[in-house]
Amino acid sequence: MKRKKILVTGGAGFIGGNFVQYMVKKYPHYYIYNLDLLTYAGDLTKHRAIEKNDNYCFIKADIADREFIMSFFEKEKFDYVIHFAAESHVDRSITNPSIFVTTNVLGTQVLLDASKEIGITKFIHVSTDEVYGELDFNPKTFFTEETPIQPNSPYSASKASSDLLVRAYHETFGLPINITRCSNNYGPFHFPEKLIPLTISRVLNDQKIPVYGDGKNVRDWLHVADHCSAIDLVLHDGVNGEVYNVGGHNERTNLEVVKTIISILGKSDTLIEFVTDRLGHDKRYAIDPTKLQKLGWNPTYTFETGITQTIKWYLENQAWWEQIISGEYKTYIESQYSFEL
Ligand code: NAD
Ligand code: TYD
Repeated sequence: MKRKKILVTGGAGFIGGNFVQYMVKKYPHYYIYNLDLLTYAGDLTKHRAIEKNDNYCFIKADIADREFIMSFFEKEKFDYVIHFAAESHVDRSITNPSIFVTTNVLGTQVLLDASKEIGITKFIHVSTDEVYGELDFNPKTFFTEETPIQPNSPYSASKASSDLLVRAYHETFGLPINITRCSNNYGPFHFPEKLIPLTISRVLNDQKIPVYGDGKNVRDWLHVADHCSAIDLVLHDGVNGEVYNVGGHNERTNLEVVKTIISILGKSDTLIEFVTDRLGHDKRYAIDPTKLQKLGWNPTYTFETGITQTIKWYLENQAWWEQIISGEYKTYIESQYSFEL
């Protein structure tokens, strides 16, 4: 039987990287291509254990490079595309929105054109709950797939724009697509500019934790392994053209998250430093995952089991994140926070 060819874009990043490892192990009879530009957020050292597997290969390329992508698809004739590659950090989108439009919108359109050209079997567009905008603090309100798209940051606006293009390619050309919209992820290999790994790495170094505003903003946290199993299910069983929300009802204020990490690591809350709020800071995200559950998905981690596993991973893999925080990241942190933390 012909081996299925799966193209994963952004497979050197956090979620794409976890997904590549999940797929390489779970489906030895598939061939996994990891295409990534290796921006500041891309890192291949995480794939040392699988880089010699005969069902894995890496290609350094830009998804917005139309000429390359069109001829690459023509040559390889992929069965499935799982599209993670993106600029993903809200704070960076506030300081430099342009690259978000180039990568997230134009890059996605190039991939859609190439997928249409070769008659792909499935295109999975990995999106975010942030396209729905924000919820108020009423704990009974949730984002469903019917919630209007109302993005507030340049990041979420660029993701929403790409979602609309993906939808349009289904409606206009019949491209077999799914869009997944997941809540905030955490887990192994999370880049330490995001709240959870930033907090873990800084607590371990006895450095101050910058909490934006009053710390009462709410995020809905999902362990990355549960996001991977959700995408796997949608890839194989998702109904073409459908959107699936992904989340596990793990709502926490940012302050609760930071305090939980400090407490597990046996340090003091005096490490918390309240700093100027993010511009346009969304108040609350919370996902209703009923539609995906009906398809057969359920998360395996609670926030408590997931955060404990993640902290253990950061303790056991200190060399990985120390190498990351010594590079471009250092310059970014210095420019982002105007005072010594
Ligand atoms: P990430 O920033 O860790 O990784 C992004 C990857 O994309 C990096 O490896 C980077 O090198 C690559 N990339 C960037 N520009 C590229 C280009 N032009 N061509 C090829 N590769 C390029 O991001 P992540 O947190 O792993 O998020 C992955 C996807 O999941 C994104 O689309 C994001 O919107 C979505 N998402 C993220 C979360 C979250 O909590 N992190 C939640 C829901 C959805
Ligand atoms: P982040 O990890 O950047 O994810 P997103 O903005 O996509 O939700 O931030 C999660 C929450 O943590 C968000 O409400 C902003 C807040 N935050 C801080 O309070 N301090 C920080 O240093 C960072 C990076 C985030």
